Amino acid sequence: MLKKIAVMTSGGDSPGMNAAIRALVRVAMHEGVETWGIYDGYSGMVEDRMVKLDSRAVGDIIQRGGTILGTARCEEFRTPEGRAKGLENMRRRGIEGLVVIGGDGSLTGATLLVKEGFPVVGLPGTIDNDIWGTDYTIGFDTTVNTVVDAINKLRDTASAHGRVIVIEAMGRHSGWIAMTAGLAGGAEQILVPEMAVSIEDTIAKLKQSRASGKKYSIIVVAEGVGNTAELGKRIEEETGLETRVSILGHIQRGGSPSVFDRILASTLAERAVMALLSGISGVMFGSRNGAVVSIDMEDAISHKKTLDTSLFRLANLLAQ
Ligand code: F6P
Repeated sequence: MLKKIAVMTSGGDSPGMNAAIRALVRVAMHEGVETWGIYDGYSGMVEDRMVKLDSRAVGDIIQRGGTILGTARCEEFRTPEGRAKGLENMRRRGIEGLVVIGGDGSLTGATLLVKEGFPVVGLPGTIDNDIWGTDYTIGFDTTVNTVVDAINKLRDTASAHGRVIVIEAMGRHSGWIAMTAGLAGGAEQILVPEMAVSIEDTIAKLKQSRASGKKYSIIVVAEGVGNTAELGKRIEEETGLETRVSILGHIQRGGSPSVFDRILASTLAERAVMALLSGISGVMFGSRNGAVVSIDMEDAISHKKTLDTSLFRLANLLAQ
């Protein structure tokens, strides 16, 4: 049985990462195992910046967004020399296993360590919800709630002025945030990178909705679709409707984690520690149909999670 493990957060931060760190440390303590926190993801591993965490060190963080350990992207870790340094730094401290909390890139890094014989378990931490094998990633629910809150507010002013408001949600490669928040926020149109819609279609739909008596319109666009400012400009030019663009940006990554994200983070973290301590490595824990499941990490990074297009159909139907 392992006696010392480490945890790191890596890639873009997501609300609930702190709840996961807290749960990892406390479950490990309960099992008589020491936990070390690695600062700033793989950078801290390569540069030997780590701290011993006890129960008190992870107090008062369950409600905080961001990550107390910091996060970063690390070029050096991509090289075999960088990884050797990182492994040496952990082994020197007697660290025998690692939990990596992050998105696709972070889990890819984790599989490289597994290949070099170091035990690693992953947790899906990203607001984008784009990791294969899990229905939800830690942080997605909080972000979607933030976006829906913004839509509600923008709806007030859109309605007051009879305008079109184009709202850009995060998601460089994935439309999960835009689609889910768009459906929950009652958007008239939702544009995502996974489903190409022509500008002509968007404009035609807007004209139809005005003809049907709608006084204002909310369009939610995922960042990955392209140039949202340009889209807003073309909508105004080609429909004659007063149009404003609101790019929500990094406000979507912050904030206190929702109940859902705190529970998800805590339950996945518990399973991650117990797995690592019983000698399991190379897996990620996720949630499927409400149950915690273990997914091969290579599978998780090599498959692309597809968008649930039935939600689109529903969003379109409800937008009439
Ligand atoms: O991966 C999460 C994410 O928030 C994406 O949705 C977004 O495109 C990207 O990170 C932004 O990254 P950065 O904070 O490096 O600008």
